[in-house]
Amino acid sequence: MDRTNPEKPSGLFNGIVDWMDERFQVRTLVQSALHVKIPRKAKTFYLGGITMFLFMVQVVTGSLLALYYQPTPDRAYDSVMFIMSNVNFGWLIRSIHSWGANLMIVSVVLHLLRVFFQGVYKRPRELTWVAGMFLLIVTLVFGFTGYLLPWDQRAYWATTVGTEIAGAMPFVGEFALNFLRSGPDITASTLSRFFGMHTLWLPMTLAAMLLVHLVLFHQQGIADPTKPVSRAKPDASATPEPEGKLLPFFPHYLLSEAIAWYVILGILIILASLWPVGLEAKANALQTPAHVKPEWYFLFLYQLLKFVPRVAGVLAPIVAIPLLVLLPFFDRNPELKPRKRLFAVIIGLLTVAGIIGLTIWGQFS
Ligand code: HEM
Repeated sequence: MDRTNPEKPSGLFNGIVDWMDERFQVRTLVQSALHVKIPRKAKTFYLGGITMFLFMVQVVTGSLLALYYQPTPDRAYDSVMFIMSNVNFGWLIRSIHSWGANLMIVSVVLHLLRVFFQGVYKRPRELTWVAGMFLLIVTLVFGFTGYLLPWDQRAYWATTVGTEIAGAMPFVGEFALNFLRSGPDITASTLSRFFGMHTLWLPMTLAAMLLVHLVLFHQQGIADPTKPVSRAKPDASATPEPEGKLLPFFPHYLLSEAIAWYVILGILIILASLWPVGLEAKANALQTPAHVKPEWYFLFLYQLLKFVPRVAGVLAPIVAIPLLVLLPFFDRNPELKPRKRLFAVIIGLLTVAGIIGLTIWGQFS
């Protein structure tokens, strides 16, 4: 017991919290972050949290891989080989990192789709959506830069195709290709540039953007997808939501989120153990493999480029991405229910079907 206050619990943990509280007001911070109520009807499917969890897994496994990985063309391949055969559980860590990257892309896309189809990007969550779009782009660039690092044939040639797609952009294509490759060809400079981006620039950018995303999310609270957005400014004197319609964020929501993370961790370990990631022959710039394809999440673009003029295929995402980033500012319809915003929902469904169709086609052609 605290001698000055017999009611206050003592102990090492409380002592540390008291010490921190006196300096950084941690209690107030934790109280404001956790002790909030959320609408019972909110359905996030925990996808944003799962994406965040997968990012944390990537940081931990990536930091372990970086202890052995050597980013030069003559050492990169052998260092990955060394990780897989000589480092304890090295093969598992590498496989978790590779599966984690794929699952993170799946979960961020599913998170975007849930936000889109529930219409919860609308006022006042426009900037949460914009920050989210930047997170999506950074996540894709993460995958792209990581793919080259093992320096095997697949890595080398997939990066060749990927950077060629960027090079086909009108006006800025040559600049983009030279910037990405750090010169006209894929060389040692490309590898160190990709390594620097993958292990320093992108994690820092993603962490900073995520902080912005979460602060915005915390300020606005989880959206209730059954309530249309009011056109009126928020009224401070409005009657608060009845208690029965709300759920405590802590511990209820957070506990379910923790269970979701636990399940994802299980899935990740099973996938990585049953289908460990392999390594092809060492990269050889003079030996083009029979089938060169980019990673699965760029396959739709690769396939599109096969049958539309190259410039049109490259321009499509350049026009689509800014439109998608600014979507909350174009879409002024306050309704959230899918049947009351049919136009947006149909365009969304057609886009998803098109991307899935092109990806499957690209995979089997
Ligand atoms: C690394 C990528 C991302 C992470 C880690 C992340 C994380 C989160 C988390 C933890 C939440 C809280 C609710 C939930 O779990 O769903 C959230 C909400 C939200 N996210 Fe993301 N997010 C990411 C990318 C995106 C993307 C790509 C978009 C859309 C373009 C987006 C838009 C939103 C919006 C609008 C909300 C508020 C939704 C609501 O109030 O129901 N986020 N995000």
